[in-house]
Amino acid sequence: MTFAEDEVSRGTQLLLSTQAEVAAGIDQLFDTLLTIPADPRGPLYEAMRHAAVAGGKRLRPLLVRAAGDLFHVDRSLTLRVGAAVEAMHVYSLIHDDLPCMDDDDMRRGKPTVHKAFDEATAVLAGDSLHALAFEWLCDPVTSSDPFVRGELCCELARASGPAGMAGGQMMDLAAETSNFDLSTVTRLQQLKTGALIAFSVEAGAILARIPPDGRTALRGYARDIGLAFQIADDIMDVEGDEALAGKALHKDEAAGKATFVTLMGLERAREQATALVDQAIGHLASYGEEATLLRAIARYVVERDR
Ligand code: IPE
Ligand code: IPE
Ligand code: MG
Ligand code: MG
Ligand code: MG
Repeated sequence: MTFAEDEVSRGTQLLLSTQAEVAAGIDQLFDTLLTIPADPRGPLYEAMRHAAVAGGKRLRPLLVRAAGDLFHVDRSLTLRVGAAVEAMHVYSLIHDDLPCMDDDDMRRGKPTVHKAFDEATAVLAGDSLHALAFEWLCDPVTSSDPFVRGELCCELARASGPAGMAGGQMMDLAAETSNFDLSTVTRLQQLKTGALIAFSVEAGAILARIPPDGRTALRGYARDIGLAFQIADDIMDVEGDEALAGKALHKDEAAGKATFVTLMGLERAREQATALVDQAIGHLASYGEEATLLRAIARYVVERDR
């Protein structure tokens, strides 16, 4: 085995074990933070738990952990910030699946929240997870430094609002009826998916109090994997396995939506995703062994089957 092959193999092992550890930690945190109250709000908490506990790849918490590990941030803190960004992500999925948006029945191998409960409960479960994400970040348990807490809240707000995820979702709806070109679709995906992924990486550096000019390489890495991740999602929509994905596929073309695949074709989309992964890994050139997990995550975002 060459040195490079050995690094890839060690990275894959590290990815699998860390992903399992982070997933278990996130489930445990959600279990504690989303205790069902014995009052009429019970179904709201049950709906949040239905969506948030035990499911998904936990990519965003994994990224907070991997970026935090680079700077030796306490892992209980990266897990907490991971729970906040995952709550924001789960809220976006609950709303994305609503009849007024993608109208989906399955998510993470289970009925969507509006199917298992009802639409009003799904809207409120999404709203609540959105608010809880900030509540958890603002808590002094997340960081004793108020500047760190403020920056985390500010960056998550930016990444999830009109200049981030929600803005990207708006463009995504428009992508069904407009003839978007490649640069517009790229911008759409950077907002819709890339912004929360970028926040997850940046959060590790914020917790470590790394000043913005020390985060350039990480930002480049995050931008490239975010785009590669969404190209992989678009490819999976065309040729993925619904049972593995846990959600309905083959929806983008039916909706007439402009995606990387409709604009570039499968082959070029695959090449582009691979090139972005190489570029992402290139941004980590100044880091050594301590970035093995981040490199493995970059490969995983395009090699994943779900
Ligand atoms: C799905 O995100 C929605 C997109 C942003 C493409 P993930 O593929 O990360 O979904 P989970 O968290 O693993 O369910
Ligand atoms: C959803 O994108 C992205 C967000 C929830 C922000 P998609 O609509 O492509 O995600 P899937 O395919 O339903 O998971
Ligand atoms: Mg959608
Ligand atoms: Mg969808
Ligand atoms: Mg999709």
